[in-house]
Amino acid sequence: MTERSRITLEVYCDNVNKALARLTEDKPPLRESVAEAMGYSLMAGGKRLRPVLMMEFCRMCGGNAADIIDIACSIELIHTFSLIHDDLPCMDDDDYRRGRPSCHKQFGEATALLAGDALNTLAFEVIADAATEGTISAQTAVMLVSVLSKAIGVHGMIGGQVIDIESENKDISLEELMILQRHKTGALIEAACVMGVVLAGKYDMIQAAAEYADAMGRAFQIVDDILDVTGSFEELGKPIGSDSEQNKSTFVTALGLEGAKQEAERLTELAVMKLKQFDDCGFLCELTEDMLGRRS
Ligand code: IPE
Ligand code: IPE
Ligand code: MG
Ligand code: MG
Ligand code: MG
Repeated sequence: MTERSRITLEVYCDNVNKALARLTEDKPPLRESVAEAMGYSLMAGGKRLRPVLMMEFCRMCGGNAADIIDIACSIELIHTFSLIHDDLPCMDDDDYRRGRPSCHKQFGEATALLAGDALNTLAFEVIADAATEGTISAQTAVMLVSVLSKAIGVHGMIGGQVIDIESENKDISLEELMILQRHKTGALIEAACVMGVVLAGKYDMIQAAAEYADAMGRAFQIVDDILDVTGSFEELGKPIGSDSEQNKSTFVTALGLEGAKQEAERLTELAVMKLKQFDDCGFLCELTEDMLGRRS
């Protein structure tokens, strides 16, 4: 990544971190534990990929990324909720996340479950508040809620998590694995990109954003599966070998390590090609290529 893009990314992440801290600073009496658990998982780091995608798509489509920072945070609230629940003993049973004990290890299962739920609803509160305050129109808010809620529910991330859990200890076809991925990881990444386009009001580019997200999201999950085998705890901040321990179907089990790497490369090239439909896509092309070689 060029120095210029590295700085752009740093500024984006800084702004997201500040806004996330502001959105979760309220720690009401008697409910501090759940509020602290929310902040604990949210502020533990993370690449902030999804809010960055939203802001950059908004900018590429002629919008002002700084104006939509809270809406960009809404997708990170959802993503963090999905990670807290993903780590629970009844799900992937992972003890570490973002370099810290996972939420349920720190606060107990009940509080972790509720912190995830509260992050989920806070995302929609943030979108509604932006409309009430006049930052976005009521019509835009409804469109955003529509895109985001569909990406979370049975037809989105939660649907993918169900297929993931039900596919443990089973051989599933590559076609089924693609459906699993498209829901589990692809849906939120697509929502991030499409919400950015919606915020800029450039509706004719929604399809192009979705095409990019489809290829990029698949490459992203393939790399996540590869890193579960080849990464280290120090780099990832989460346990490695978790997938094989849980007998998960992943792109590595389906394609082999080398095959998975080649497929991630092919999809990254495709994603970059799709980006070329947007003006001034240099930063996002670099970020997309960077995600292929990421170690965390
Ligand atoms: C991890 O997502 C879970 C997947 C959907 C693959 P990220 O790799 O974006 O995790 P953070 O946000 O950087 O911690
Ligand atoms: C999780 O996928 C996707 C979510 C919806 C959170 P993984 O289970 O592969 O994510 P990691 O590897 O635990 O981050
Ligand atoms: Mg999982
Ligand atoms: Mg997991
Ligand atoms: Mg994984």
